[in-house]
Amino acid sequence: MCGIVGYIGKNEAEPILLDGLRRLEYRGYDSAGISVINGKKIETVKAVGKIAELEEKLSKKDVKGNIGIAHTRWATHGKPCEKNSHPHSDCKGDIFLVHNGIIENYQELKDDLKKLGHKFKSETDSEVVAHLIEDLMKKYDFKTAVAKTLKMLKGTYGFAIVSKSEPEKLIIARNGSPLLLGIGKDEYVVASDASAIIRHTKRVVYLEDGEMAVLEKDGYEISSMHEKIIKNREESEIDWSIEEAEKQGFDHFMIKEIFEQPQAVTDAVRGRINVSDGNAKLGGLRDVSKELREIERIIIVSCGTSYYAGLVGEYMIEEYAGIPVEVEYASEFRYRKPIIDSKTAVIAISQSGETADTLAAIREAKNKGALTLGIVNAVGSTIARETDAGVYNHAGPEIGVASTKAFTSQLSILVLFALFLGRQRNMSLVTGQRIAKELEKLPKLIEEVLKQNDDIKKIMKKYSKYRDFLYLGRKYNMPIAYEGALKIKEISYVHAEGYPSGEMKHGPIALIDENFPVVVLAPKDSVYEKTISGIEEVKARGGKILAIGTKGDKNIAKISDDVIYVPKTLEMLSPIVNVVPLQLLSYYAGTLKGIDVDKPRNLAKSVTVE
Ligand code: AGP
Ligand code: GLU
Repeated sequence: MCGIVGYIGKNEAEPILLDGLRRLEYRGYDSAGISVINGKKIETVKAVGKIAELEEKLSKKDVKGNIGIAHTRWATHGKPCEKNSHPHSDCKGDIFLVHNGIIENYQELKDDLKKLGHKFKSETDSEVVAHLIEDLMKKYDFKTAVAKTLKMLKGTYGFAIVSKSEPEKLIIARNGSPLLLGIGKDEYVVASDASAIIRHTKRVVYLEDGEMAVLEKDGYEISSMHEKIIKNREESEIDWSIEEAEKQGFDHFMIKEIFEQPQAVTDAVRGRINVSDGNAKLGGLRDVSKELREIERIIIVSCGTSYYAGLVGEYMIEEYAGIPVEVEYASEFRYRKPIIDSKTAVIAISQSGETADTLAAIREAKNKGALTLGIVNAVGSTIARETDAGVYNHAGPEIGVASTKAFTSQLSILVLFALFLGRQRNMSLVTGQRIAKELEKLPKLIEEVLKQNDDIKKIMKKYSKYRDFLYLGRKYNMPIAYEGALKIKEISYVHAEGYPSGEMKHGPIALIDENFPVVVLAPKDSVYEKTISGIEEVKARGGKILAIGTKGDKNIAKISDDVIYVPKTLEMLSPIVNVVPLQLLSYYAGTLKGIDVDKPRNLAKSVTVE
């Protein structure tokens, strides 16, 4: 996601746009830019890096005008650099736009436009839209050209668009990315969220998906993509503080990002699932798909939560693609003498794309001739640039130090990897179709778990007095036990250990008594009976059981002190759903202790040191 700001009104646009960008910087900050109309002239200034870089450039200019657009970028297509930063324009420099979202069909549109002679300045998907409008404005007016362009797009967008040909207008549109219209006194402020509007006005109008609006100094008109005028859209009142607005009403970024997971999983698989072919479409692997067909072994290198994602990926890829997988702590891998050859692929999983240990592991793997791939969230980050190919999460910036939406996004992409590699090998069409269909349902299943938020908070209240926890899981859910233990450790500072359920009797069971609760991943899956035996062993020693069970399983409630039910899905997908209650438990474990869970002590969001 990124930050969009637009202004049209009686005041100078530049200072209002800049202030809005500062408020939205948390939404994405790899580059920023601004375009302001002054009569028939449009002045555009862009800068890589933080908003301060843009401010520095603007301080040396005198950008005048009462209509303008601005953008702080979270790159999805094209690395963070000046030419890829927004606003983007058409060939003639008549139309300028800022975009939030992903245009899935940008490549085919770009190819067609190139055949018509259009020249592109950037690698982004967004720039294509400015050229589409340019082409249509040869026949139509600005508004009609935009409306017809929107109908050609697949994917998500929030747009703010200006044109020299009709310099008194600001056009906005939304589909799948947020955009609010602030109604001021003789002025309008448009933004991705309330935090950039609230200091100018609390009166807002929310555009719905598929709608656009034409703003002029004396009024605005909302219409649907089918050009039907929408009259009397009711106004709303923003009743948040600015700080709350950045968190969109949530108390912390962590809980906001936990609740963003249905969207994060949707964005991870957007345009990448082909149900009829029972396959995954991973554009980022296109150039290495031949090598991938030949590889005979995979090593996954990562750290922390991303390491646990790798452990889940090991089960997925071995079971569904039949390729041996090892998952290595990057900090260990880089000091071993790993056996690597040209048939080995090394996959780095990293939200930040800057983790020093993971980067070092990838460099070591490249030195030894391995094909290196990345599953990275931050576009243009070092690991993304240094691996031979990869797949971006498109999860948007993850501000909370504890990784939540990035983790479920990583798992979703690992499913796509298993699907892609499996269908290159022996996976049947039917199996591929079943996985693809179930993967598409996941966002709704996560939403169902999130509805239990208040109940989970109540459960955590019961367990908040304990200082020690054991988390147990088997097979696909063993890594989720590890992840759950890490989450509660790093967020609430209690001691917690994740363990394979089957290992408990080889030692940890000695810890069990009424003061050492056990959180058990107990979905109705292929190892359910074994998990139940483990629970009985704990109960026999007076231990308390908090189980994550499958909705409808009455048996689990009989042997557990508390149960959090999650909806059924394929065993390989269950970690994506089962981790959500554990994230919420850790969030409440921390907040009930008054901890600032967005910045837990001693931690950093990206560990760029060894
Ligand atoms: C997870 O909640 C932690 N913040 C930490 O373990 C993190 O997963 C680890 O540092 C790896 O970071 P990366 O994904 O950015 O490489
Ligand atoms: N897809 C566009 C780009 O990569 C917009 C990304 C964003 O939402 O910031 O530039």
